[in-house]
Amino acid sequence: MQHQRNNTILLPGFVDLHVHFREPGFWQKETIATGSAAALRGGYIAVVTMPNLKPAPDCLPNLQQQLELIKQQAQLPVFPVGSITMGQLGKGELSRMEEMAPYVCGFSDDGVGVNDPALMKEAMQRARALGKPIIAHCEDLSFGDAHNPASEYKALERDLELAAQTGCHYHVCHVSAAQSVELIRQAKKDGLAVTAETAPHYLVLCDADVLLGDYNYHMNPPIRAAADRDALLAGLIDGTIDCIATDHAPHTAQDKLNGCPGLVGLETAFPVLYTKLVREGVLTLDQLVNAMAHNPRELLKRWTNRVFGGSVLWDVQTPYIIEPSEFATMGRATPFAGWEVYGKCLN
Ligand code: DOR
Repeated sequence: MQHQRNNTILLPGFVDLHVHFREPGFWQKETIATGSAAALRGGYIAVVTMPNLKPAPDCLPNLQQQLELIKQQAQLPVFPVGSITMGQLGKGELSRMEEMAPYVCGFSDDGVGVNDPALMKEAMQRARALGKPIIAHCEDLSFGDAHNPASEYKALERDLELAAQTGCHYHVCHVSAAQSVELIRQAKKDGLAVTAETAPHYLVLCDADVLLGDYNYHMNPPIRAAADRDALLAGLIDGTIDCIATDHAPHTAQDKLNGCPGLVGLETAFPVLYTKLVREGVLTLDQLVNAMAHNPRELLKRWTNRVFGGSVLWDVQTPYIIEPSEFATMGRATPFAGWEVYGKCLN
């Protein structure tokens, strides 16, 4: 699958199913040009963008604004996700899914949960008819605050029932809790069309590592206990969790100070995971490549009918220090600043 020569290794290009490029609406946080430059530096060949934009891609004219910016600026294939609800509010009226379907990977209200079961069920029925997935941000604060894992897994549990009823392909975003992994494992055993992703920070950090009040550790869902991290790793190894997606979520320094959740991740994902998990013997390189390249490529193919190939050369022998001021992304928030890692993309 990959070959090694001197200090370098050739790996399949990665696909990130979950990034936030902030245009239209929030160009001061990230543009499509800077976000896609960061993706290339991270060894990616295609990315999927979340719809918390202004305007939200909730109808074809709004989506067209984003598609136009992608056409002008993207340095690699960038695939938008449409919102589930008008305004991407997690409630109210469903978006104009049918008119957007030919141009989007699927539908999500990432950033907020859709917690009205009747609304979610209708969204799933319509997505199913369109052959598109619901890409779910599971968060229902009526079950506890975001630090309570029930806010994630209770919302997931409810959605899995709806997915069983509707036959919709249901993709779970940024899984962070052990109970969620178990629910997904069982749903897969039951034959549901469910897939899932987690993010690098949930796999290499736990709450004991979090510096309280430091915005470099502030994202949603939050980093949980060591047992959650270990359950996510076990889920990745047994195939319950299909993909690692970064949830690359850049903000300005001022917005971070004001409490915006989100980390940047495109330029650190492979080096951090390779160093902490592969070099330390937690995952094999093949397992990591499956989660970052093969499995997300398969999902993207299912969602867009497009096939992506291509390899990227990495230096995996020369250590270096992660230095956020050198990032191509406009965001700087990362818990990995100062880490010594292996894995320099030679793109
Ligand atoms: O930390 C997060 N940041 N979680 C989300 O769900 C949204 C994202 C963002 O858009 O900044």
